[in-house]
Amino acid sequence: MLADTNKNEKHVYDANLDSHSDLQRFFEADNLVVATRFFRNAALFEQLGSMVIPNLLSSGLQERGTLQIWSAGCSDGRESYSLAMAARNSLDDLGYQGIAVQVRGSDLSRPQIEMARRGVYRISASDWPKLDPYRQNFEELGSAFWQIVSTIKGLVEFVVEDIIEAQMDAQFDILICSLVLLYYDPQYQREIIKKLVKAVRPAGFFHVAPVGRRWLKSQGFEPLPGSSLFFTGRTMEILA
Ligand SMILES: C[S@@+](CC[C@H](N)C(=O)[O-])C[C@H]1O[C@@H](n2cnc3c(N)ncnc32)[C@H](O)[C@@H]1O
Repeated sequence: MLADTNKNEKHVYDANLDSHSDLQRFFEADNLVVATRFFRNAALFEQLGSMVIPNLLSSGLQERGTLQIWSAGCSDGRESYSLAMAARNSLDDLGYQGIAVQVRGSDLSRPQIEMARRGVYRISASDWPKLDPYRQNFEELGSAFWQIVSTIKGLVEFVVEDIIEAQMDAQFDILICSLVLLYYDPQYQREIIKKLVKAVRPAGFFHVAPVGRRWLKSQGFEPLPGSSLFFTGRTMEILA
């Protein structure tokens, strides 16, 4: 069953897709406009640098030497590149230049992943205040188009993949799945969350939104102390 993609009749966020939906066709539809930006949720990137990375550094990241991040449902890549830039900056500022950053950006939509791999974006004047601290990561191509520099591109790998079919070990220190679940019916959302959380290291952190904090707590997940956005922990209930 394919949900109605006519934006004039129904907002795409009301899609309520289920496990039998033709997801790829839905997400590759011409009239589907996805909302994403560089550093879209400023608080997320602030908490990543001030709480998540320092916490990981004190729980084994220094010994492992590579910070692994999964941006699931990354759209055209702006979220994944923002994560790479923020993580690299934060580690450098803390004096951990030797710790590598690897970001995995995945999305069901082939055109979105092609754009992500290209790494060329139109950036408007109103976007620059947010991007100013990261300006050295962009090369100007002209006519308001900018290319992500190779040092950041090299930190990010993009794959076309349905989250529910991803085969991941518990390998990620940080998992971000933002503005993805809202397309799905609640039952399927929970299946997706189970899948995602299994890919996070036991001492890792995840941000899945929009999902109720109360529901996550009821499943035994603990908010990272002081953080409104990140959770930690793998519970027996959800992993069973
Ligand atoms: C609104 S965008 C979110 C972009 C980005 N995460 C952000 O927060 O800025 C939603 C993206 O989720 C992708 N998506 C939806 N369901 C997915 C699934 N099952 N597996 C992988 N990607 C999915 C869509 O193709 C779309 O690009």
